[in-house]
Amino acid sequence: MMRSHNCGELLSTDAGKRVVLTGWVNRRRDHGGLVFIDLRDRWGMTQLVFDAAVQKRFPDVTRMRSEYVIRIEGVVRERPVGLANPKFSTGTIEVSVEQVEVLSEATLPPFEIEEKKDTDENLRLRYRYLDLRKARMQKNLMLRHQTAKAIRDYLSQREFIEIETPFLAKSTPEGARDFLVPCRMNRGTFYALPQSPQLFKQILMIAGFDRYYQIVKCFRDEDLRSDRQPEFTQVDIEMSFVDQDDVICLVEGLIRECLAKVSGLLVDIPFLRLTYSEAMARFGTDKPDLRIPLELVDLTPLTRTVRETLWNTLSSEDALYALEVPGWKDFSRKTADELSLRARESGCGLSYIRCKDNEWGSPLKNKLDPETWEALVHRFNGTREPVVLLVWGKISRIRELLGNLRVQIGRDLQIAREGLAFCWVYDFPLFEWNEEENRWDSMHHPFTSPRPEDLERLREDPGTVRTLSYDLVLNGHEIGGGSIRIHQKAVQETVFQLLRLSDDEINQKFGFFVGGLEHGCPPHGGIALGLDRLVMILAQESSIREVIAFPKTQKGSCLLTGAPSGIDQAQLDILGLSLNTPPEPEGPLRASCGSSPE
Ligand code: AMO
Repeated sequence: MMRSHNCGELLSTDAGKRVVLTGWVNRRRDHGGLVFIDLRDRWGMTQLVFDAAVQKRFPDVTRMRSEYVIRIEGVVRERPVGLANPKFSTGTIEVSVEQVEVLSEATLPPFEIEEKKDTDENLRLRYRYLDLRKARMQKNLMLRHQTAKAIRDYLSQREFIEIETPFLAKSTPEGARDFLVPCRMNRGTFYALPQSPQLFKQILMIAGFDRYYQIVKCFRDEDLRSDRQPEFTQVDIEMSFVDQDDVICLVEGLIRECLAKVSGLLVDIPFLRLTYSEAMARFGTDKPDLRIPLELVDLTPLTRTVRETLWNTLSSEDALYALEVPGWKDFSRKTADELSLRARESGCGLSYIRCKDNEWGSPLKNKLDPETWEALVHRFNGTREPVVLLVWGKISRIRELLGNLRVQIGRDLQIAREGLAFCWVYDFPLFEWNEEENRWDSMHHPFTSPRPEDLERLREDPGTVRTLSYDLVLNGHEIGGGSIRIHQKAVQETVFQLLRLSDDEINQKFGFFVGGLEHGCPPHGGIALGLDRLVMILAQESSIREVIAFPKTQKGSCLLTGAPSGIDQAQLDILGLSLNTPPEPEGPLRASCGSSPE
């Protein structure tokens, strides 16, 4: 028997039992002839006591240090009165050790496994096997497992079946670059790792599976952020013969059941629904953090008078927006100057009006005509001593700036409420205009169905066409996105054409799929949830790297294994490839990967 119990399960009721435990030495303390060791494993921590006689028989005891792996035999006993440790589930007992065996020695770890220590993240990633021993990481990965399990259970109970789709695939456009894999058997050709299983899941609908899901890795070569990884996990869902409400209700039920199971939280459903245009107008973004009680105010009607008196640089398309911040006591001239500079950098103008000690003031007061001033003050009278930021310029830039400021100010002033704030954002436009390339891009992906009532404008006025699409937003993060799909070949082809794809390109890139639309395609729709982001928020972490066992750095490297790495000439030759530029030299952390620190 390797062990009889784990390190988190012994209780006072086990006193007197002979047990065998295995685990890692968390800490050793020597106390007047007695040695205490906290023995740790995935389940918890148990205090071991070695008396003088045992130490004499096993001299190893006094040299065992943190992270040694040991196996002990001993007897459980209650701790003396007053020495219980309420922090551990096993805190009322200890094990008096009689036999001990060192299973594996450990060199001095490069950082302590203790929770409170703030270790450099690169070091943590390089020694991930040590980092993953931390209670926090064990808890996070356990939460991830439980979340995935709750999702599988929910969907399986509703007759969804999990079907795997290929990783060695053809490009599916989701707005990022593809990771490519050279094919040895057809030299000069490449697979694309899937940005999502979008087309395969639609083909599964054409094939009649009706309800599909998959917890699946997706790959996107894009700039990384704290909530973005080059490989990440989606809960990918597709259903036939459904409308938008069916998908939304399914997901609300899934989230509610999942959170109840894994976090004991009962979230209220249905979630708030905002159209895309409402979200942009009120929050300046399509992923609003609704915990922050601040909203943008459109003052553009005022600009008619204002334009003449003050902002004579405004064109008729420019707008004036405000962000009202009640109780911003430490707002100062310096804050205003910094914000103005930031606005200028974003191509906007910024000023403010403010009520302090019941008196309204502003650097603009003397420049504005009395009527406009009165109108402004009247609009904001009523809230407690607000600072009202006024921003003017191009509407898209104002929204971006104020959307970001809203979040930053909300956080700085700590006015965001606690908890989880879900909402749906729906009715996205079909296209967004790509100024650089002077053409339309899909706002989601090109398989998203236009709203039926907007279809007639598809060719004439594509910029005004809205879609049957919906994003799920939680605390300012987009945790899911989906749509009802185009299931008519003619509409799909029109969308491709508006995206400036030639018939040849359509055929070459999507022929396999468009062909399927000719063979009896049911109306269908679905969604994909970002599992990493959902778990990150549930775990109250601020980066998805904290809920992924082996994440990549911001630069896309794995510091543990040293990936990506160069390949040798023989491998290139087999693939029929040659490099224009030599691989970049490896960084110091990667170069010495695997060896112990000095
Ligand atoms: P979308 O591109 O919106 O939709 O992706 C769905 C969800 O996946 C998560 N996500 C990411 N998470 C971590 N790192 C990334 N790089 C990353 N990119 C996306 C987000 C996002 O909401 N095929 C469609 C879904 C559909 O239409 O059914 C798709 O992939 O949480």
